[in-house]
Amino acid sequence: MKFSTICLAASILILSGCKPKEAMVSPISEITWGKDGGKTIKLFTLTNKNGMEVKISNFGAVINSIVVPDRNGKMENIVLGFDSLKSYQGMHPYFGSLVGRYGNRIALGKFSLNGNNYTLAVNNGVNHLHGGIKGFNKQVFQIDTTYSTPDSSVIGLSYLSPDMEEGYPGNLKLKVNYVLTNNNEIKIEYEAETDKPTVLNITNHSYFNLTACKENILNHELVLMADSITPTDTTLIPTGILAPVAGTPFDFTIAHKIGERIDQVPGGYDINYKLRNKTGQLVQAAEVYEPASGRVLQAFTSEPGVQFYTGNFLDGSLTGFNGIKYQQHYGFCLEAQHFPDSPNKPQFPSVVLNPGEKYTQLTVYKFSVK
Ligand code: BGC
Repeated sequence: MKFSTICLAASILILSGCKPKEAMVSPISEITWGKDGGKTIKLFTLTNKNGMEVKISNFGAVINSIVVPDRNGKMENIVLGFDSLKSYQGMHPYFGSLVGRYGNRIALGKFSLNGNNYTLAVNNGVNHLHGGIKGFNKQVFQIDTTYSTPDSSVIGLSYLSPDMEEGYPGNLKLKVNYVLTNNNEIKIEYEAETDKPTVLNITNHSYFNLTACKENILNHELVLMADSITPTDTTLIPTGILAPVAGTPFDFTIAHKIGERIDQVPGGYDINYKLRNKTGQLVQAAEVYEPASGRVLQAFTSEPGVQFYTGNFLDGSLTGFNGIKYQQHYGFCLEAQHFPDSPNKPQFPSVVLNPGEKYTQLTVYKFSVK
């Protein structure tokens, strides 16, 4: 073949979009979303072969939107969030964010570890919540990798949290992979290492509304694979006991509408469930069905608990996608995690991470219709 013929053939291949097979299955696109402290913030769009689309940013490792079909194939975003980076940089209740170092509350912002006392920010009444003043939700993550395979698209992010950041000991290296599969799953894989003993409880704080915010979430039907909760005091710190859910409005061992008994729970649900997870392997934690759209969300996790939160503190003051004002109970969270205030509750599964150990967590949100 002459050189010119080879060039012609190559041009035809390029013009006809003949790219490696995997790039065609799940292309990842990106835009520059803005800047934070001089650092460039990207917004990535992952699309699978079914047209499901997930947007993820390296600001706060946030899941910005999740577009899934309803039972008629209508594609809509089913998480609460904002169009602009500026809104995520401002005050909001952790929409879609990666939360850490400690997702949930630590009583009075204090704990001790190996005889050393640590003091954290008190940023929620008298307690510490979700990592402090500038938690991981407000940090810029490094973009380590973005790639597609025939089955999935992957964004790999990392963040190096310096020793004593927000009062937590140890230089902590955190990695998170977001994986969108062709089975309409979002897999969130976390890994962390420290150089000093520390505590760690990472979670994703997405607020779901399977109606795509046409109404609140009280009509959604929920099953939780959990037989007990960690009851709390008035400041939402666990008392330390496990209480069976049987015979209470917290019992979702069989499907109930979220709104069915919510009036019996002052303010709405905001409670940690102990999952039936005995192994630390990936098990199903929850299933949510929304009858009008037919959408189903199944949550799986390797964590021992899940915080079920019904957007009780949303009050219409935040305006999100499509100009929608997020009113009370416009979203629910299934925050896979260790139990709240574990650093002060030796009877709860340990959240201590020591040098030489590897923290791992896998949480999966899977979408379908019925
Ligand atoms: C907590 C709620 C809190 C919300 C937003 C949830 O994880 O359980 O009490 O209001 O996060 O910060």
